[in-house]
Amino acid sequence: MGAIAIADNIYWVGVKDPGLLHFDIVMETKHGTTYNAYLVRGRDKVALIDTVKAQFTNEFLNNVREITDLESIEYLIVNHTEPDHSGAITALLENAPHITIVCAAAAVPFVKNTINTEARIRPVKDNDVIDLGGKTIIFKSTPYMHWPDTMMEYLKEDGILFSCDGFAGHIAFDSIWADQARQDVDYEIQYYFDSIMRPFTSYIRRNMPKLEALDVRMIAPSHGPIIRRDAPAYIRKYSEWSSDKSDGKNQITIFYVSSYGNTALIAQTLASRLSERGFTVVLIDTFQMDESYARDQIEASVALLFGTPTFNGDAVRPIWNAVSLLSTVNSVGKKAAVFGSYGWGGEGTKLVSERLAGLRLKIFSEALRARLIPSQEELAEVASFAGKIADFVESV
Ligand code: FEO
Repeated sequence: MGAIAIADNIYWVGVKDPGLLHFDIVMETKHGTTYNAYLVRGRDKVALIDTVKAQFTNEFLNNVREITDLESIEYLIVNHTEPDHSGAITALLENAPHITIVCAAAAVPFVKNTINTEARIRPVKDNDVIDLGGKTIIFKSTPYMHWPDTMMEYLKEDGILFSCDGFAGHIAFDSIWADQARQDVDYEIQYYFDSIMRPFTSYIRRNMPKLEALDVRMIAPSHGPIIRRDAPAYIRKYSEWSSDKSDGKNQITIFYVSSYGNTALIAQTLASRLSERGFTVVLIDTFQMDESYARDQIEASVALLFGTPTFNGDAVRPIWNAVSLLSTVNSVGKKAAVFGSYGWGGEGTKLVSERLAGLRLKIFSEALRARLIPSQEELAEVASFAGKIADFVESV
């Protein structure tokens, strides 16, 4: 498509990948995507912001050459090292070995592991500045938007936020401007957040005040269209989407599945007892679970309970499906407990507990198990277990 000026001496030099069907395995991309890279030319120096996926290297380098010789580039700013943006670094350095790579300190080992050769690398931290001559680049450390090494830049004179994966959307079309897209850009940006950013909302919450404080007139992300109309609205959306949905709530969500009603009986008894203790309890039968609803409830909850029978020495698939949702949202540090009925070995509760611990939830030390149909004594134990869970959830 060639280089495109987006402001005075600032150019989009990225590439389009309209045929991409899936991104990062987890995300369907029915509109394809773009790998955006930008070139900023100051009076004194030239900086390139990001590269592209390796298979598009030649097209990318040709786009850059439309604006300047590769030898004239002083800095390559690497906003994060995921291969869809770092795939052409090695080829760029082969053509222009004098380039200084500028990246977050956290990115330095990743850059080294990407290029596997010697290069000049300059780590930068929050609010560090590079002046290209009338083009002042201010670095903003924004870890986990999307990787731990993610950073953004604010170009002071032009009010442009080069936002890496932040505010990105997977759309490739015949323009680069959001206001010229036929697709639903707002939907795609939210879908991107939902698919890629949502596990990191606790980090994003800490980053957003840095972006809210800027006078952003244009957002130039790493994927999809550039936003030049009402850019602050998108920053406000990210602040809202990343807010703590459990804040001020007292919700416990109980995921369960039951073949003969025994684990369900335990789940309902726990729900009743926990409600009496003042919690808002949401019961989700994972056999007929709406995943979008379930993810919302995980985020809204201060604690999560998982009830599973044991079949063939394992927990059952609907419960594993629910557990697999935990890593798609921000669940780290939430309190959790496990229960279930069983016939022979009862291994299911132990296996789920281990998985929850692996996902860094705070697990209540004991799992509640009842053999086959819970007796009156076992139901009394369930009531007692509910009290212990309530104490555990209320403890600091
Ligand atoms: Fe577009 Fe996190 O890479």
